Amino acid sequence: MKVSRLFAAGLLAAASVYTVLPAAGSTGHGPLDPDRPLRELAGRQLLIGTAVDHAAYTNDATYRERIASEFSSITAENVMKWEVVEPVRGELDFSAADELMAVAKRNGQQVRGHTLLWHNQLPAWLTQGVESGDIDSGELRDILRDHVTAEARHFRGRIYQWDVANEVIDDNGQLRDTIWLRELGPGYIADVFRWAHKADPKAKLFLNDYNVEGLSAKSDAYYALAKDLLRQRVPLHGFGAQGHYGVQYGFHSASEVAANFARFEKLGLETAVTEVDVRMIMPTDNVKLQSQAQGYSVLLQGCLLAKRCNSFTVWGFTDKYSWVPGFFEGEGAANLLDENFEAKPAYRELQAILALTGSR
Ligand code: XIL
Repeated sequence: MKVSRLFAAGLLAAASVYTVLPAAGSTGHGPLDPDRPLRELAGRQLLIGTAVDHAAYTNDATYRERIASEFSSITAENVMKWEVVEPVRGELDFSAADELMAVAKRNGQQVRGHTLLWHNQLPAWLTQGVESGDIDSGELRDILRDHVTAEARHFRGRIYQWDVANEVIDDNGQLRDTIWLRELGPGYIADVFRWAHKADPKAKLFLNDYNVEGLSAKSDAYYALAKDLLRQRVPLHGFGAQGHYGVQYGFHSASEVAANFARFEKLGLETAVTEVDVRMIMPTDNVKLQSQAQGYSVLLQGCLLAKRCNSFTVWGFTDKYSWVPGFFEGEGAANLLDENFEAKPAYRELQAILALTGSR
């Protein structure tokens, strides 16, 4: 499959800690009743997560209720990112992220950390400082070490998986051209994992990216990177495939996703699906909505077919709140529920898969 599809240029240029509910009604004979919330159907098979929009959470009671009932894991959509936690140099602000940590505790949910190192959503003081030459390479390395250490330490012991390094490889399979690579050289990736592990030794530390669900030059490059990091004894524990699909591009097969995950697992890593949404060119119609269900389906099945894929996270769950229309012109309707929180075919599909596999 052609995978040069995602972001147009310049666009966005633990098993031991699980506390999920047991599979309700599981008898070991035949499927469960599929008309139940996802987290109940998933039971102990895997964590079912969603990204949480902090503002929507604050303002919308229905949104809050569905997060509690449907999901066993949450990811902060934005409020753990560097521009939010350190808008002013030296002044750390984890208040919004801490609110989401409290939400997770109340709901009996695990938390995926997102993200310690990225090239987007960096604070202006940092990008401008590098651009103007005020911050040189040596200082930048210290700033990065302090950021990773402070954030991982702040949440120490409370994050089951951290997206430590996000999107560090480009679609050609080369290390992405970012301020990190340009200023610090390729060793910055090993550094951030080492710093994160020191600050939070129990969290599982992940590489995470888009366009790596199937077998491709980009996922091959990640495989080589993971092998290289492990050879250097870098504390890398997992590989996350974001899963941002579009119906107009088609999808991988579930078996290809599983085969891709299996090779990372053979290196000793966990795998995860971390940011699923399946967008479409608007307006919606039944064919697109059925196709969308297939996109969600192959990713969930790929995860379930892999041995160590312990979490499946959607990037928002209702079309009422989605990053897609703002980033992909003319596209939308990427989530499991519509703007009125009504189930779409994709939601029914995930319920059916979890009901079938939960019966085993
Ligand atoms: C997106 C958020 O959903 C938006 O609200 C924000 O404006 C930009 O970032 N890959 C990632 C996520 O790793 O952090 C991105 O989230 C989506 C693409």
